[in-house]
Amino acid sequence: MKIAVFVSGGGTNLQAIIDRITSGELTNVEIAEVIASNDSAFAIERAKIAGIPSKVISKKILGAEAYDEATLSELESIGAELVVLAGFLSMLGPKTVKAYANRIINIHPALIPAFCGQGMYGIRPHEAVLAKGVKVSGATVHFVNEHYDEGPIILQKAVDVLPDDTAETLQKRIMKECEQVILPKAIQLFADGKLEVVDNLVKFKN
Ligand code: GAR
Repeated sequence: MKIAVFVSGGGTNLQAIIDRITSGELTNVEIAEVIASNDSAFAIERAKIAGIPSKVISKKILGAEAYDEATLSELESIGAELVVLAGFLSMLGPKTVKAYANRIINIHPALIPAFCGQGMYGIRPHEAVLAKGVKVSGATVHFVNEHYDEGPIILQKAVDVLPDDTAETLQKRIMKECEQVILPKAIQLFADGKLEVVDNLVKFKN
C-alpha cells in the first residue's frame, strides 16, 4: 500500500515509520513520497537518507486554493492510498480532505478531545497540560475531517504526567512512548483493511 507522509518539522514520527518498515514490523506499506510544508523541515533530510522521494508544497507560497489543488494532484499522481500527517502543522484543503475521506490520518500529541483544536500543536498541548495540572496525557491517531482534530479516533495511548515534568520532557516521552508506537500501528491496521468508520466512530474489523 502506497502512503504519502506530510511533515513540517523534525520528522521523528516519519523516522518511526521508516524504521518499522525497514525492520519488517510494518508490512505491505511503502512510503511513496514525503511532502513537507516548508523547505527547512529536517524530516526532508530523513527522507533523503532513507532514499524516499520528497517534495515541498507550501501553502504560504501557493495560497490556500492552489495549495489544495497541488496536494490533491500530487497525491493522485503518486497513487497514494493513505495520507499520513506525521508532525504536519498545517491543514489540508477541503478538496483534498473530501477526496481522501477516511484515508487521511493524523497524530496529535494529546488525548483528544482534550488539548486539541486550532493552535494546539507542537509543544503547546504539553504546556497546556502542565498549566492545567492533569495527571495523564498521551497521543491520539485519528482520521482527518474538515475540522481540526475532530475526525474519528483510531488509537490512543497515555502516559503519566510526572511531578517534575517540563513541557519538553513530557513531549519527548509522549513522542517516544505514545506517538511512535500508535502511528505505525494505525498505519498497519489501515493497510490490513481492519478499520471501518460507522457513524463517525472507528470500528475494528476482525
Ligand atoms: C509531534 O509531537 C506531533 O504529534 C505534533 O508535532 C510534533 C512533530 O514531531 N503534531 C501536532 O501537533 C499536529 N497537531 P515530528 O516532526 O518529530 O514527528
